Amino acid sequence: MSLSIVILAAGQGTRMRSALPKVLHPLGGIPLLKHVIDRARRLSPARIAVVYGHGGEQVRDMLSGEAVDWVLQAEQLGTGHAVDQAMPGIGDQDSVLVLYGDVPLIGVDTLAALVEKADDGALAVLTAELDDPTGYGRMLRDEAGRLVGIVEQKDADADQLAIREINSGFLAAPAHCLKRWLERLDNRNAQGEYYLTDVIAMAVTDGVPVESIRAPHEYEILGVNDRVQLARLERVYQRRQAERLMLAGVTLADPARLDIRGDVQVGQDSRIDANVVLEGKVVIGERVSIGAGCVLRNTTVGDDVELLPYCVIDESEIGKRCIIGPFARLRPQSVLAEQVKVGNFVEIKKSRIDEGSKVNHLSYVGDTHMGRGVNVGAGTITCNYDGANKYLTEIGDNVFLGSDCQLIAPVKIGDGATIGAGSTITQDVPPGELTLSRVRQQTIKGWKRPVKKPR
Ligand code: UD1
Ligand code: CA
Repeated sequence: MSLSIVILAAGQGTRMRSALPKVLHPLGGIPLLKHVIDRARRLSPARIAVVYGHGGEQVRDMLSGEAVDWVLQAEQLGTGHAVDQAMPGIGDQDSVLVLYGDVPLIGVDTLAALVEKADDGALAVLTAELDDPTGYGRMLRDEAGRLVGIVEQKDADADQLAIREINSGFLAAPAHCLKRWLERLDNRNAQGEYYLTDVIAMAVTDGVPVESIRAPHEYEILGVNDRVQLARLERVYQRRQAERLMLAGVTLADPARLDIRGDVQVGQDSRIDANVVLEGKVVIGERVSIGAGCVLRNTTVGDDVELLPYCVIDESEIGKRCIIGPFARLRPQSVLAEQVKVGNFVEIKKSRIDEGSKVNHLSYVGDTHMGRGVNVGAGTITCNYDGANKYLTEIGDNVFLGSDCQLIAPVKIGDGATIGAGSTITQDVPPGELTLSRVRQQTIKGWKRPVKKPR
């Protein structure tokens, strides 16, 4: 028996007050709809259909890499109508699972339990018991406790409004049943919509077993309608990410002050201090220490690295045992070999720095290949840009650059060269020698400072 999953994502999302469609708003750096697609995929379905709305081209464009069938619901006539749009592509023998594109934290095990019931021929709905059920459809049960229907908030009477068991909206059913029921839907209700929820009463009439499953955690069924709810779910998601890392052997100074926005792996016995942000694809080795306030994006960090506080590192690779910061900035395509030191107020861009080299203070290194064991003095600048083009600086092994040097690229410094402090290097430098470009120091004997004229 194969599984077809239908994800509803055509709603307007008016309450977000945003030019960006609701399902594209990020949770943990990943669009809401992508969370749902990823979870759906873990059930190995034969087909995932995403029902998107008129003007939802932005949704299709942003998630164009996803292998899903896009189904247009040009007019939003209700959840039942939305599911019906996807039915022509679904085989009668399939089980169908309906998900919402704006409910991102649904558990995969919970979904699997729904599908199992549908595979056995039942209609299965996911419910929850809420202290405040306002806004949700309420589950109607007979005296024996059997489900007999769902009533929407806007159609409910006072007794029904007091029911705290709510409809999450997620359901699973055999496709041939669902197709039959969807054909019979009408829109004679308070909202003039085709309600998917009306299929419950139809199943009861048809004698198809109706089963309910309780969501094990409340957050699994929480949807995003406005930015307040989005922020609340973000905290739930971050808490779970933090717990995943801690259980994998990572020490967090404060699990509430780490933000993970993407796909992040951290090795055992690494420690992360407060207010760290990890974005995109970040891979951190073992026994790494990440200081307070560091921001890492699409970066790989080797074992035993020490990142001191407040480093900003973007699209870079850091080798084992490097020590970086505090206050260092690594811009895209910076590659540090093992045991490199990058100190405070240093900016590195598109450069390779080989093993054991040190750039400890107040320097700019861009478009550079630096060999091993190089020592770069404070305030050194690679002048890589003439206002129109960028040029390469090549520094050999074991070079010693005095403080405050400017290397005007393109330029090569030979192995073992020493450059005197304050030099402006415009031509290639031979290996093993001392090179300097410096105006000779002079003293004017007897010189007097000017004094203010009397007035
Ligand atoms: C729906 C349920 C309600 C449940 C609640 C849970 C119905 C009739 N009601 O109500 O019982 O408690 O969800 O959150 O199903 N959508 C479309 N096309 C449409 C209408 C909606 O794709 O024409 C999508 C929305 O984008 C959203 C989902 O379906 O992802 C739910 O729609 P929404 O309008 O939020 O349903 P509710 O009225 O909240
Ligand atoms: Ca809703």
